[in-house]
Amino acid sequence: MLVAATVCAGSVAARPWQAPSRSGAGATSDAVGQGMFASSCAGCHGLDGRGGERAPGVVANARVQRMSDSEISGIISNGIPDTGMPAFHALSPEQVRAIVQYLRSLQGQEKAEPLPGDPVRGKAVFFGKGECSSCHMMRGEGGFLGPDLSTYGSARPANSISDAIVNPARVPDPAFRMAVATTRNGERISGIVRNEDNFSVQLQTADGAFHFLSRSDLRKLDYQSKPAMPTNYGDKLGRKELDDLVSYIISVGRKAKPDAASAGEDLHEEDFQ
Ligand code: HEC
Ligand code: HEC
Repeated sequence: MLVAATVCAGSVAARPWQAPSRSGAGATSDAVGQGMFASSCAGCHGLDGRGGERAPGVVANARVQRMSDSEISGIISNGIPDTGMPAFHALSPEQVRAIVQYLRSLQGQEKAEPLPGDPVRGKAVFFGKGECSSCHMMRGEGGFLGPDLSTYGSARPANSISDAIVNPARVPDPAFRMAVATTRNGERISGIVRNEDNFSVQLQTADGAFHFLSRSDLRKLDYQSKPAMPTNYGDKLGRKELDDLVSYIISVGRKAKPDAASAGEDLHEEDFQ
């Protein structure tokens, strides 16, 4: 099974089943990530990321697998001082993100990690106590304020997913920037900024509805500086609930990728879909 996954590694970008993860950019950013990895990283780390003469492997490397996405991004942007790992100051945050995403997809093909918990109980946390579904879509069910997580777990290691939940980004992702608009009548509308220009702004509220607002009708528009994702899940959820939740996210993600899903997972699909 591992052999099949490895052979397919080169054609990841072209998969029609690879649903875009956010704002329709998912598939392209995979292709971008693959290209950038080949041009910026492969010279030292090897084309498949398994290491070369000048640098260690970053795919089967357990330390890199355990790093959060933001730690890896930091290494790419800042380098590792006094080693052969250079800083890539010229890469934009989107380009770094695309490289990390591609690196995660290589890591995901490396091995199907055993699930840390129970996906069925994890689904209950996602739609219940955790209230994740009030903001995140999972296979067409859920809210709009955060990114769709249906493919999020397809290639990421469990540690990096739980890290994203317990230590979420402190800086808003531009695709999910929130704002509160106050109209001249005093009505307040808060939602994600889906579109804006000099004359209007389009907000999507938690219920999914779009609001087209003319700037001339607004008293003010306040952009939120922090992402909407709560920062207290480390306290709110127990270790076991977190493991179950991560297992649910991984199993849904693996199913979004047919060949990764067949990699030795003993799941009863009907139970949690
Ligand atoms: C000029 C060669 C070179 C290039 C180009 C390069 N690296 Fe590195 N990289 C290294 C070396 C050498 C190390 C080991 C540093 C050390 O000794 O800790 C390293 C370490 C790393 C680590 C940490 C590994 C660990 O085990 O802690 C990551 C992650 C990484 N590189 C990712 C990348 C990515 C992604 C790119 C492309 C954007 C890249 N590198 C480009 C040479 C390179
Ligand atoms: C109030 C809305 C809200 C709730 C509730 C919420 N999230 Fe989030 N979440 C967000 C937003 C918005 C982002 C994007 C953050 C940003 O701006 O980078 C996000 C980001 C994430 C990410 C990173 C996605 C990526 O593409 O980088 C994960 C994983 C995640 N949330 C999982 C969860 C889980 C699991 C729960 C429930 C335990 C949860 N979230 C609850 C709004 C929410």
